[in-house]
Amino acid sequence: MEIYPVKGTHDIVENDAELYRSIEETCMAVAHFYGYKEIRTPIIEHTNLFVRGVGESSDIVNKEMYTFLDKGERSITLRPELTAGVMRSIVSNKLYVNADLPLKYYYVGPCFRYERPQAGRYRQFHQFGIEAIGSPSYYLDAETIAMGYRIASILSSSKEGENSPYKLKVYVNSLGDEDSRANYKEALKKYFAKHIKNMCGDCKRRYEINPLRILDCKVEEDQAIIKDAPKMSDYLSEDSKLYLNNVISLLKELGIEATIDDGLVRGLDYYTGVVFEYHLLDEDGKSIIGALGGGGHYARLLKEIGGPDLEGIGLAFGIERLAYLIKTIHPVDEEKIYGPDFYLFGLNEEAIEENFKISDLLRVRTLSTEVCYEVKSPKSAIKTALRRGAYCAILVGEDELAKKQVTIKNLTTQEQTSVAISDLGDVASDIIAKRYVDVEGE
Ligand code: HAM
Repeated sequence: MEIYPVKGTHDIVENDAELYRSIEETCMAVAHFYGYKEIRTPIIEHTNLFVRGVGESSDIVNKEMYTFLDKGERSITLRPELTAGVMRSIVSNKLYVNADLPLKYYYVGPCFRYERPQAGRYRQFHQFGIEAIGSPSYYLDAETIAMGYRIASILSSSKEGENSPYKLKVYVNSLGDEDSRANYKEALKKYFAKHIKNMCGDCKRRYEINPLRILDCKVEEDQAIIKDAPKMSDYLSEDSKLYLNNVISLLKELGIEATIDDGLVRGLDYYTGVVFEYHLLDEDGKSIIGALGGGGHYARLLKEIGGPDLEGIGLAFGIERLAYLIKTIHPVDEEKIYGPDFYLFGLNEEAIEENFKISDLLRVRTLSTEVCYEVKSPKSAIKTALRRGAYCAILVGEDELAKKQVTIKNLTTQEQTSVAISDLGDVASDIIAKRYVDVEGE
């Protein structure tokens, strides 16, 4: 009997695994540039963390959580996102005590949401994210949005001269201060009162708990009603408008054009103030895979979870969506990119033993090296090396063994050279150093 993967999950294999790793490494490198430190929190948390943190009226808590009772009858949930867990960890570990604020953490890891699987939407997916806690400055909001933009643009950048049909876009909005939001919710209630009996069951529930969440509804008939609902911008206090405009102007100073999207409310209840999302648009201005990432300001989350009254701001990207973005923009010969630098072949048994030792000599120089432990003919060796995307094949046969040499064939330039084993480390390092200079100079 074949056992299939669980619906909405996917194995990340072969070159995809390399791609995911390189995306995560890019995200982490950028996070370091901005002064963030890593934080790792558990995948399982008490369910009430998300009920209180992400919010009872959100779809995530209502419909999408993987929740179960453990053997001790505790209600446990597989994390649907990491922000709430990071806040819990800050409280549990008292990370704010005697700390220089803001606290700045980044994270990478799997999340679980019971959603309807479709392109770019999984039940187990992966996020990279950051949280900065303890500075209410709009400079930090602007810096956070800019950092996300840098990550998305590094990953989506086309080679110079290439005219990409895709455009990276950052949308911003403000959910206002407490008074603005209360007035807006009131206005939404008034507007939806006359429509709600004709709207979906979820909207009816949202109407009672948090009418803001009605704006997340994806049902087509409901969207026709939502489109004419009051806009948040008409209910923003002067302070909230000024704050948002300050953030937009600061981004402009960095050359980042943020577009206000009045309908952007985000699906998590903890947001207050500025919220934002990153999208890749196609030629027709359509978002190609939904939000690549998003985030926002949250003024009360840490306190809600039992910590001090410190504001936070953060963002998260979906790694699956970033991988989709890269594959869309750079459809490349993946084997070539991720093959080893050197592939060693023995033309007889004795040569295989020699290759076993040579491989170590190359690997200690951090040159990626594979060894074939089956005797091959030169022709089949080259075929295998090409299939595996190796940069060079190294062949060792009777002749080479007698002269204590190897034959290196560069599979890109077709150059073939004989090199003494005693010089091989230096020669191999030079070949690979030159390889990357050539690639950069292309
Ligand atoms: P979110 O918008 O729910 O925000 O998720 C962030 C990103 O995770 C999305 O933009 C998307 O790329 C990816 N994502 C979400 N759901 C799925 C899914 N089912 N399949 C694949 N990818 C998905 C948050 O999670 C907030 N915690 C972000 C944040 C951090 N806000 C403040 N700090």
